[in-house]
Amino acid sequence: MMLRPGEIWYDTNGVPINAHGGGVLFHEGTYWWFGEHKIAGEEGNRAHVGVHVYASEDLIHWRDEGIALTVDDSPGSEIPTGCILERPKVIYNTRTGKFVMWFHLEPMGGGYGGARSAVAIADAPGGPYRFLHSLRQNAGVWPENLPEEWKHPLTDSEECELAALGLGGAPFPWYPKNVVFRRDFAVGQMARDMTLFVDDDGCAYHLYASENNGTLHVSLLDETFTQPAGRYIRIFPGRFHEAPAMMKWNGRYWLFTSDCTGWTPNTARLSSAPSIWGPWEEHGNPCLGSGAQIANSFESQPAFVLPVAGRRDAFIYMADRWRPGNAIDGRYVWLPVVFKHGLPVVEWRDEWELQSEWPA
Ligand code: DGJ
Repeated sequence: MMLRPGEIWYDTNGVPINAHGGGVLFHEGTYWWFGEHKIAGEEGNRAHVGVHVYASEDLIHWRDEGIALTVDDSPGSEIPTGCILERPKVIYNTRTGKFVMWFHLEPMGGGYGGARSAVAIADAPGGPYRFLHSLRQNAGVWPENLPEEWKHPLTDSEECELAALGLGGAPFPWYPKNVVFRRDFAVGQMARDMTLFVDDDGCAYHLYASENNGTLHVSLLDETFTQPAGRYIRIFPGRFHEAPAMMKWNGRYWLFTSDCTGWTPNTARLSSAPSIWGPWEEHGNPCLGSGAQIANSFESQPAFVLPVAGRRDAFIYMADRWRPGNAIDGRYVWLPVVFKHGLPVVEWRDEWELQSEWPA
């Protein structure tokens, strides 16, 4: 069966799949696709239902497994109807036997200013997931790749200068590269767009757009995967990468990201490093296609890279074609990662088939 990027995809009940900004967990022969459940209209950009989960054995036929994490309007809940709950990802912890979900959480009423991460856990892949906590990560910890001279809180004059800049989340050329993480040292680092990555040695990492989106952080999770372990690095300060999606191939870590332009698609970026701790380098735009497709990344923004189980060098690049005016109509752009001149890149296909891409 053909995959048609950008068209409406239906579940096995014939209902359009509702799992945006998502990620896929492969567990004991089944793929579990988690994503933001969106409703119609602009209001759909906020959480009204929760995290939707679908299951499949072949990546084509997706069974609706319901709502894995449900918004909760009980007193004290951190995930009430109308909060912002984005880019959920789930990983499995072999030590604890728990399924651990992380997502970007913006508490009610604060726009995107909260920049928090939230964690929920479950005993089975499809859930139900129980909200555990939300946090700002790595409070009181300096990044590992930071020269000694920057390891101090902001001076009074830096604080004034920073306040005058009125930082939001959008790029600008005079973004101060070594300031925002120092401002947040005591309260913990901001995290908006995010992904999780489990390495071959079982260590798990949280990668997130921090510092008012200006800088990515790569942060090790603790043994339970529910907290930061207190080791992290900053990468690409001032480059405003969003939408991180990571894969490991040919002994390197490869990171697909976008530029930072809200819901509007922009030009994607590829970076890599020989170790997750760096050194990281940028390679440019990984999208191949027509001029417009190259410029706007097939009208989409990365969400996740899915290794296809049992196939060598087989990865699916998953991206979202957002429809912010009618959020429920957002589309999925899944394309095979192809390798050219030693780089993983993404080539447009009107339609494609897993079997022909990666014969058994
Ligand atoms: C771009 C991010 O990638 C999305 O997840 C979402 O946060 C939008 N920005 C909001 O404008």
